[in-house]
Amino acid sequence: MAREFNTVGVVGLGTMGAGIAEVLARAGIAVIGVELDAEGLARGRGHIEHSTSRAVAHGKLDESGRTELLDRISYTTSLSDLTEVDLVVEAIPEQLERKAAVFQELEQICRPDVILASNTSSLSVTEIGVHTGRPGKVVGVHFFNPAPVLKLVEVVRTVVTEPDVIFDVVDLLHRLGKEPVVIGDRAGFIANALLFGYLNHAASMYEARYATREDLDAAMRHGCGYPMGPLALLDLIGLDTAYEILETMYRQSRNRLHAPAPILKQMITAGLLGRKSGRGFYSYDAPDSPTVVPDAETPRPATESAAGGREVQRVGVVGTGTMATGIVEVFAKRGMDVVLRARSADKADAAIAVVRKSLDRQVAKGRLAEADRDAVLGRIGRAVEFEELADCDLVIEAVAEDLAIKQAVFGALDEVVKPGAILATTTSSLPVIACAAATTRPADVIGLHFFNPAPVMKLVEVVRTISTADDVVASADAICRKVGKHPVHCGDRAGFIVNALLFPYLNDAVKMLEAHYAEADDIDVAMKVGCGLPMGPFELLDVVGLDVSLAIERTLFNEYRDPGLAPAPLLEHLVTAGRLGRKTGKGFRDYGRSA
Ligand code: 3HC
Repeated sequence: MAREFNTVGVVGLGTMGAGIAEVLARAGIAVIGVELDAEGLARGRGHIEHSTSRAVAHGKLDESGRTELLDRISYTTSLSDLTEVDLVVEAIPEQLERKAAVFQELEQICRPDVILASNTSSLSVTEIGVHTGRPGKVVGVHFFNPAPVLKLVEVVRTVVTEPDVIFDVVDLLHRLGKEPVVIGDRAGFIANALLFGYLNHAASMYEARYATREDLDAAMRHGCGYPMGPLALLDLIGLDTAYEILETMYRQSRNRLHAPAPILKQMITAGLLGRKSGRGFYSYDAPDSPTVVPDAETPRPATESAAGGREVQRVGVVGTGTMATGIVEVFAKRGMDVVLRARSADKADAAIAVVRKSLDRQVAKGRLAEADRDAVLGRIGRAVEFEELADCDLVIEAVAEDLAIKQAVFGALDEVVKPGAILATTTSSLPVIACAAATTRPADVIGLHFFNPAPVMKLVEVVRTISTADDVVASADAICRKVGKHPVHCGDRAGFIVNALLFPYLNDAVKMLEAHYAEADDIDVAMKVGCGLPMGPFELLDVVGLDVSLAIERTLFNEYRDPGLAPAPLLEHLVTAGRLGRKTGKGFRDYGRSA
C-alpha cells in the first residue's frame, strides 16, 4: 500500500529548505522545520513569511490560506523531534560529511519505513545513502530555486533505491503540483549538469571583461528569452552553492569547463555570495532581496557618452535574405531612409516584396495603419550598384556567411562609400576584423549581430574589433537604441556572447543523450520546467537546424580548442544522415513532414 505523507521533516531552512517547507505546507502537509540554532530558524521562518507574502501580493494565495500554511509549519533545533514524521527532506549545505552525519542521526530517530530524501544538487545520493542502515529508502528529490515557483523536481534513484520508494515520492510530488523526472545518480543530474557549465562560462566572460554583467545578462534574456541572465541567476542560486556544484561536477567529469571560474572563489572569500548576502555580481537593497540597486559598476547608457557620435540618417543594407529584409523593415519603420542593395533589380524587388508582405501582415492584425505601411515602403529604395550606397551614413552587410563573399562586399563598399560612413557586418560566426581588413578604413567597421527575426528580436550584439573607433561604437549603440533594439557590447570572439554561451550548453545536452543518461523529452522538460527556459535544448536544436548548430560548434571549438567544446559525435552523425531538424522534417524528433 502506498505510504501516506501527513507530516514531513525538512532539515535545513536555507533558501531551498524554506521553499520546500512552503511547498509541502501549501499542500496541507504538516511540516517540522529543523535548523542548527535559533538564528537559523528565524531566518528560515523569515524566508517563508516573505515568500508567502509575495504569493499573496501576486494573488496566488489569500490571507487565510497564508495563515493556515504558516500554522502547519513548526520549528525546532533538534533532529530528535522527527520521531513521528513520514518523510524527511534534507536541504543542508552541499558537504558530504555534514549530510552523512545528519542521515546517520535520522537513521536512529525515524521509523524504519520512513523515506529519507536529500535535496542535494550534485553530491552522490548513493554515497549519502550508505551512511544509513536503509539505503533502499534513500532517494534524491532535487527542487529548483525558487521552489514554490518552479515545478521541476529531479527524483534521483540510486542502484539500490526500492521501486515503491520512487513510486510514492513521485506520487507525493504530483500531489504538490510538481513535475517529477526520475533519473540516475550522476553529478549535476540533468538540469545542473547542463546549466552550470553555462553559468561558469558567463562568470569567466565577466572575469575576462569580455562584456559587462548587464550586457551578459541582457544578451541571454533578449537573445534567448531566458527569464534571467546567467549572473543574476548565479546571485539567486548563491555563489557558494554554485561553487560547490561546479567543484563536484569537475571532480567527476574532469571537464575544464566545469572548473569553477576563479572569480567565484574570490567573491565567496570576500563574502559576496549573491542575493542572500545582499551582494554578488549585483548589489541588492538588503540580504535576500531581489531588488538590485545601482552601484559603482553600473554603467551609464552608452547613448549618454555618445557625444561626438556620427549622425546616421540614411542606411544601406546589402543582401536579400531574411536577415537583410528584417533589418530593412526595422530601420524603415523607425523613420529612416533605407536602400536595399541586391545583385539584380529583380532580386531587390523580390526582397522588398518580402518586407511588404511582413508589413501587410501587421496591417491585417491591426498593428499598423495602412497609411503608415505606405510611408514605410516609401522610405525603402533599391540599388544594384554599390555606388548607389555612396551617400549612406551606415551600410549593413547581411549576405551569406562566407568570408570571401563578405570580404568582396566590404572591398566594394570601401571604394564607393563616403568617408566617415560606418560599415557594419551582421556576421554571427566570422571574425568582424576579417571584414574590416578588406577595407582601408578598419576603424569604421563594426559588427551588428541582429537576431532572427530581426523585426521581433530586441537584441543586437555590437561587436568592436581591435581597430574600431570609439565614436563608431557609440554611434552604433545610439542607432540601435533609436530603432528600438537593446544593444549589448562585446569583443570580436567566436560566438560573441549569445552563441558562445548557448551552443556549448546545447552540445552538452546532445552528449548527455548520447550517454543514455536521459531521454531528449526529459532533458527538454528539465530545462524548461526547472529553469524557466522557453525551449528545451533539443527543441531549439531542431529549430535552429542541426547543420547550422554544428557549424557554430565547430567555430567555437576551432577558436578555443577546449576538448569540452568538441561537437558531440551524435550531432555530426545526424547531420551526415541529412536529419537537419524541422526544415528536413527530422532531427532529434520526427516531425512527419518538413515544417
Ligand atoms: N508561491 C507561488 N507563486 C509564487 C510565489 C510563491 N511563494 N512567489 C512568487 N510566485 C509567482 C508569482 O506570482 C509569479 O507568477 P505570475 O508570473 O503568474 O504572476 C511568478 O511566481 C514569478 O514572480 P516574481 O515576481 O516573484 O518574479 P519574476 O517574474 O521576476 O520571476 C523567477 C522570478 C521565478 C526567479 C524567474 O526569473 C525564473 O524562473 N528564473 C529562472 C530561475 C532558475 O533558473 N532556477 C533554477 C536554478 S538552478 C537550481 O535551483 C538548482 C539548484 O541545485 C542550484
